[in-house]
Amino acid sequence: MKNLGKKIYIIETCPSTNDIAKNKAEEGEEEGTTVWALEQTQGRGREGRKWISQKYKGLYFSIILKPDVTIGNLLTLLGALAFIEIAKRNFNLEIKLKWPNDLIHENKKIGGILGEGTYKGSQLNYMILGVGINTNYKIEDFPENMQKKVTSLKIILNKEIENQKLLMAILEKMNSLYTTDFIQNKLIYFANKFSFFKKGERIKIKTLQGLLEGEYKGINKDGSLLLQTKTGEIKIYSGHFIE
Ligand code: BTN
Repeated sequence: MKNLGKKIYIIETCPSTNDIAKNKAEEGEEEGTTVWALEQTQGRGREGRKWISQKYKGLYFSIILKPDVTIGNLLTLLGALAFIEIAKRNFNLEIKLKWPNDLIHENKKIGGILGEGTYKGSQLNYMILGVGINTNYKIEDFPENMQKKVTSLKIILNKEIENQKLLMAILEKMNSLYTTDFIQNKLIYFANKFSFFKKGERIKIKTLQGLLEGEYKGINKDGSLLLQTKTGEIKIYSGHFIE
């Protein structure tokens, strides 16, 4: 259950590294193989959103993972935690995790994780974990309507970031965290420790079941979000927040 980043394909441009990694997985590439692109022409985020992927301005990569199905949906949290720890160690930045996959610096989004699983029956065949970090964007590189909501390492630190160095640091961190013991016994503790929401905070979340409102109770051991509503505590598996 190791070797993340042992083999890295470096691609100048592609539609989405998640798709290239998926093709490689279908061709039988081993777990850990990583696809890194300098730019993406059709980078995507959760819920079909576009992920802006200008050349050199961000870090865009995807890793092939073949975990046990029981821990499959915890892996976006693992990717997020790896970046949070590297941002603290290398840049002394406090990054928060906005469940399930947003990386936030002082209320602004700096990165995100996109986990896409492929199943054979009920078995997880493989999972592609795509990571996007805004490294060298200037604020004017983003569309005007996004500028209040996003940031980059360069905007915060006022210096150019070496994407390759950051990639290697994140992969090394993920490699050390990617053990069954850590994922089953410690990951949720850390995901809660770095949570953007505080326990007891009132949140509104749009889900397939409609708009839900209540008190944030934390991230559950299966990776779901716990929400205390008027009618009781519920687990939410996907959705997005309404401000
Ligand atoms: C999100 O916040 O909604 C997730 C963003 C994930 C972006 C990364 S960039 C590398 C990989 N390839 C993609 O097309 N998306 C992910």
